[in-house]
Amino acid sequence: MNSALPYASGPLHLGHIAGSYLGADIFVRFNRLLGNEVLFICGSDEYGTPITIKADKEKVDPSVIAERYHKEHEATFKGLDIEFDIFSRTTYPEHARIAGEIFLDLYNKGFLKEDTMDSAYCNTCARYLPDRYVEGTCPNCGFEKARGDQCDICGKILDPKDLVRPVCAISGDTPEFRRTKHLFLLLDRLQPELLKWFDGKDNWRQNVRAFTRNFIGNGLKPRPVTRDLEWGVPVPVIGYEKKRIYVWFEALIGYVSASIIFSKEKGDPDYWKKFWQDKSVPAYYFLGKDNITFHSVIWPSILIAHSSLNLPYDIPANEYLVLSGKKFSRSRSVGFVVDEALKNYDKDYIRYYLSTILPESGDAEFSFDELVEKTNSELISKYGNLVHRLSSFASARSLSVKRPATLDELSTGAMEKCRKTVDDWKNLLEAVEIKKALRKILDLIQYTNAFFNESRPWDLIKTDSEKANEKIWVIGFLTAWATVTIFPYVPSSARKIWKTLGFPGGVENGLTTLQGKDFAFTPVKSDPPFKPIEVSEAPAGPHLVVGEIGEVKDHPNAEKLLLLGVDIGTRKIRLVAGLRMHYDPSDLVGRKIVVVENLKHSRIRGEESQGMLLAADDGDHVRYLTVKDSIPVGAEVKIGNDAYGDSGEISIEELQGFGIRISERNGSQIAISSRDGREETLTVNGSGVFPEKPVKVDSPVR
Ligand code: MF3
Ligand code: ZN
Repeated sequence: MNSALPYASGPLHLGHIAGSYLGADIFVRFNRLLGNEVLFICGSDEYGTPITIKADKEKVDPSVIAERYHKEHEATFKGLDIEFDIFSRTTYPEHARIAGEIFLDLYNKGFLKEDTMDSAYCNTCARYLPDRYVEGTCPNCGFEKARGDQCDICGKILDPKDLVRPVCAISGDTPEFRRTKHLFLLLDRLQPELLKWFDGKDNWRQNVRAFTRNFIGNGLKPRPVTRDLEWGVPVPVIGYEKKRIYVWFEALIGYVSASIIFSKEKGDPDYWKKFWQDKSVPAYYFLGKDNITFHSVIWPSILIAHSSLNLPYDIPANEYLVLSGKKFSRSRSVGFVVDEALKNYDKDYIRYYLSTILPESGDAEFSFDELVEKTNSELISKYGNLVHRLSSFASARSLSVKRPATLDELSTGAMEKCRKTVDDWKNLLEAVEIKKALRKILDLIQYTNAFFNESRPWDLIKTDSEKANEKIWVIGFLTAWATVTIFPYVPSSARKIWKTLGFPGGVENGLTTLQGKDFAFTPVKSDPPFKPIEVSEAPAGPHLVVGEIGEVKDHPNAEKLLLLGVDIGTRKIRLVAGLRMHYDPSDLVGRKIVVVENLKHSRIRGEESQGMLLAADDGDHVRYLTVKDSIPVGAEVKIGNDAYGDSGEISIEELQGFGIRISERNGSQIAISSRDGREETLTVNGSGVFPEKPVKVDSPVR
């Protein structure tokens, strides 16, 4: 099992995790549950130009960058419970040795031939430019900032020479193309074998087949696999001492070298052969779509030429994860850094949410709001709740739950439903449908919650303890299956839950345990397994806006009330106000007032009021609050720093909680809020809100 080796050139983003690593980790854990032996490989790709570009920017040696990000990536993966058997490095001498050996083997077999090519040379920088250092317009889609190796937008693999109007990414000058000699991998010669192999790959994802077919197109051409660089693996051929092996050629061999290094460290130097030479062991490669053709064309070509190592079995490549419509891409600094996300959210919440949106068959959109929403409403409310109900119920009664002698029809039905759902889960995961398989687990969880409700063990236990035991056992059995099947997705939580519920053994061996005969369990008392993510919503409060009184009428059924038509900018509303004893209707028309726009609508003596105006009442007089003439209708009034625009409907009690009253500052009256002993002034566009005529200080506003 292999995950693409990330460039050690910048922090990992959630897009990388969703693309190449999380799915792989889940798939590996799934296989281990089944009892399959897996070798899970990854490592740092340290020789790529992304590293030298970064080093040039920071004016340090590339090794400094590679070292920094290798360590950082290792920690990031650990933080997310993504557990490779080895996280290797392409700068290990052993890797250079193995890559050199395979390179030489291909050379000796005649699959590498010398030819010349035009390399971009920048006169300002006085050096040959790596492909990625050349930027220009993509000849395929017209994207203006395409790089010389590949277009980020359409995914086409490019040669710097293909770019329209190429420039050096460092100096900005137009490079010249100089003729230099290089070794070329004879893809044309390997093509017949490659096509034969590719033809059998009906199990591949649609996008992977399409990319590959597209790349092969009308035929493959020889590709240069050496470069004029200093940072890289030396070319083991005389006359090539100053050149390096092309990073893609050498990084792909990283999968092999990592396997060999791991085996040596393990003290079993031949261990890797099982995975690379036994034809019955399938090799999977997890990666993002920009890596597809390197793995579906270049890598198999190298392996065919070398002829002693297994070719890829499946390449379940993912599409992109997009955040607000932009691709997560390290090289263009869009997206979210994993280490940042880990500061705010539990690793299993991130794993869970990403699993629900894996871009397995098309680009997927990521949003933090949705992360919170899905985690709270699915993982926590459904699964966490089931676990907690079961553990609370059983531990409160000190139940030790044994397999019942017989099961009634409903219980048998539940067992059957569980078996079917688990079958589906297994089939989906075997086909690397990781996102869909998770839906099956949620089905099972929901079903189990419903079964819990319907079988009412809390009633049964009073009258028929045997029946109660039967139902609780079924609930426990189903919950155990849910926990085993969800384990690959949220391993650390599942491990904890397995213990809490007192299921036997470890969750890692859960499949065997559940298939055995005597499943029994004794839950222990515990807190809910998950803490819901707190949603910091805008606090509830009055949304105050400036309105202008239009029409004024008497209330038909109340002598103290008036009906006001008020323009609040965004719309016109109707208010019922107790102003009739204090104002003549004609004194009100055209006046600016302050309206509580989000107050729950009410009927006052049969007339609807769609809000309320603010007025001070000192016992003798009622004075509406107003603002400076220059303040426009619709302007928002703040209390302190808050405008409470998104706080939804509020009640009259919530409004009263703000304790709005009249105070005096520098000789003028203004409205303040004295909620919780804090005094905050009401302001609109920087100026105050005040009673239309002075009232007694401290008069309440209502
Ligand atoms: N470093 C490359 C990337 O991040 C992937 C290399 S995969 C390998 O896109 F197999 F070549 F290592
Ligand atoms: Zn393009």
